[in-house]
Amino acid sequence: MSTKLNIHILLYMQSHNISRMVIENCILQKMSYTQYTDSQTQLMSIAKAIVSPGKGVLAADEINATMEKRFSGIGVENTEENRKIYRGLLFSATNSQHSLSEYISGVILNHETFHQSNEDGVSFIDVLQKNGMIPGIKLDQGVTPLVGTNDEVIAEGLDRLSSRCSEYYKLGARFAKWRCVLKISENTPSELAMKENANVLARYASICQQNGLVPIVEPEVLRDGDHDLEKNQKVTEQVLSYTYKALMEHHVFLEGTLLKPNMVTAGQSCTKSYTAKDVAKATVTALQRTVPAAVPGIVFLSGGQSEEEATLNLNAMNQLEMVKPWRLSFSFARALQASALKAWQGKSCNATAAQAELLKRSYANGMATQGKYEENSVSTFADTDDNFVAQHVY
Ligand code: 13P
Repeated sequence: MSTKLNIHILLYMQSHNISRMVIENCILQKMSYTQYTDSQTQLMSIAKAIVSPGKGVLAADEINATMEKRFSGIGVENTEENRKIYRGLLFSATNSQHSLSEYISGVILNHETFHQSNEDGVSFIDVLQKNGMIPGIKLDQGVTPLVGTNDEVIAEGLDRLSSRCSEYYKLGARFAKWRCVLKISENTPSELAMKENANVLARYASICQQNGLVPIVEPEVLRDGDHDLEKNQKVTEQVLSYTYKALMEHHVFLEGTLLKPNMVTAGQSCTKSYTAKDVAKATVTALQRTVPAAVPGIVFLSGGQSEEEATLNLNAMNQLEMVKPWRLSFSFARALQASALKAWQGKSCNATAAQAELLKRSYANGMATQGKYEENSVSTFADTDDNFVAQHVY
């Protein structure tokens, strides 16, 4: 089949300022995608399993500095042993009727947790797999300043990424995440920040796929600021446009990826208030305008919303009668763990209570992925606590 571009496409490219290379890549990829390779089929099936109905992701990949903040809130010392005990209780959460894997398809770990074992010497990877959950790994190595900008940052971690991916795959990882951070202010995000973060996400996604890992692409627009919902929607649309342009240019196989964006909410100090339906409409509109239908699922971060707020917003999105070609699910850290942490308090006698909190929140979010959650039908220890952390670093 010829890949020559016809006059209509050329005119469209001119009017939309799209380079010839991008269009040619689309055509070439489309041709090769009519028949999936074995590795593409494998990536698609992992991505689909992660967003299967009623399920989402538990993000338990907080770096040690973040765990310091979490543990200091409940008076627990931030040691490797305490982090291991805490994560161990999360991963084996079960009660007489339910197990975590009914609502949680995959768990994101960091490097330390990925190599830890429980008290019986069973590695956490085995614990997750035996309990029916897919292990994932955080691959970015934090953020560093983008010099010359207004305090903007770029995520690091591309060095040796291919060999890191291959090692994690051998140990059982089947998906990964990489978080980039964009800030809203009068003159941010800058074009440089959006472009460079999009490129690093695309490079990461491409390297993951070469090594059999489904990349979760996470361009997070932070909630810091007093901007309104409309402003966040505009910025989220811009950031996602840059992200998908870069993913196309890097030949990323979209069917074998997941997106982890912020929900479109007003800034933390905005004085206007919005309903869950407002948030849902603004978020789905932004996604419709920017995220290709080939992407199988969108797993939102919670971004400092309270547990109940995050559940209600996700539920409202899934109730909306708007075109949604992707599954809409969750990959929460704070909005799944806040109540469990509060119940645990670092005491082994509270482990079962902490697990019960995690199970309840996971159930609530599982219902929200199907638009079946009823407001306040699940009550947990910290369900309305605000989890916002200024300039949040993971
Ligand atoms: P929050 O849900 O706490 O925003 O964290 C999401 C995240 O990026 C962790 O992977």
